[in-house]
Amino acid sequence: MNIEDIAKKMCAKGKGILAADESTGTIAKRFKSINVENLEKNRLIFRQTLFNSSGMKDYIGGVILFDETIKQKTTLGLTIPELILEHGAIPGIKVDKGAKSLAGSSEETVTEGLDGLRERLKEYYSLGARFTKWRAVYKITDKYPSSQSIKSNAHALARYAALVQEAKMVPIIEPEVLMDGSHDIKKCYQVTSNVLNECYNELSIHKINLKGTVLKPNMIIPGSECKKKSSAKEIAKETLHCLKKNVPSEVPSIAFLSGGQSEIEASKNLNEINKINNTNFLITFSYGRGLQASALKEFGKNQENIENIQKAFNHRARMNGLSSKGEWAENLEKESAA
Ligand code: 13P
Repeated sequence: MNIEDIAKKMCAKGKGILAADESTGTIAKRFKSINVENLEKNRLIFRQTLFNSSGMKDYIGGVILFDETIKQKTTLGLTIPELILEHGAIPGIKVDKGAKSLAGSSEETVTEGLDGLRERLKEYYSLGARFTKWRAVYKITDKYPSSQSIKSNAHALARYAALVQEAKMVPIIEPEVLMDGSHDIKKCYQVTSNVLNECYNELSIHKINLKGTVLKPNMIIPGSECKKKSSAKEIAKETLHCLKKNVPSEVPSIAFLSGGQSEIEASKNLNEINKINNTNFLITFSYGRGLQASALKEFGKNQENIENIQKAFNHRARMNGLSSKGEWAENLEKESAA
């Protein structure tokens, strides 16, 4: 499959992406919250339980993995990439090495991982990966993000994307403007516009085929400490406006991160966006917490109760699948919980 077809398949209508690429440090935090020891075996069992769920086939087009996971063999006999393929989704891999302190602006970060990337990509391709992820992180304060952080992260994202397309895989471009802080929705709009603009400027300099990419942005949302809350309608309107203005129309698909929104908020906001989507972009989800939080809770209650873990995951996958078509409704949440 060529990269343009892969990009379409990952985000086919009614489907989205499962971000299960938490680093060992991040999954440690998630497991701590449910009192589960952060062992390789537990990480494998939790993830293979999700990937073996019936909801995968209808609602999940791609799964983002971490280095450890793509190399694991399941207790069912298949490798992790084989299990994902068997459920009709495409395996992908996080290839950045994390957000590190930015020299010259040490309260900000730049994402590292370009050294040796060409060789790592070859290995991931041979393990079955057909798309990749690289996440740049920007925080909003009175003085940040600086243009130094916006430019250096955009440059790294573009160099990453060029290497990934050379390796015949689809790069997910993830510039995440964090929700942390007391800024209002207008500030989020402004900062996200600047960030996206610089990203597409660099992607153009690096001659990226935008039809073979997927954008993974934040929604336009007030900071988590902001007193003035916004309705889902306002979030949807501002988000679409920002994307329309700053994302070139060749980009086929946009798959949001959930970024700390609750599971229901993430579904509700995505649904509102798709209800009024007047762009040509396919707009869907690439959620980590937004797809896994309830399943993780069930795993914490009883790691052996596969049925309950999968039930919780299937429900969220279905809800977000509906949201990606603008067909979600609050009462569907209640019905299924009953
Ligand atoms: P969240 O949906 O939990 O923000 O995770 C998505 C992701 O992949 C962040 O890089």
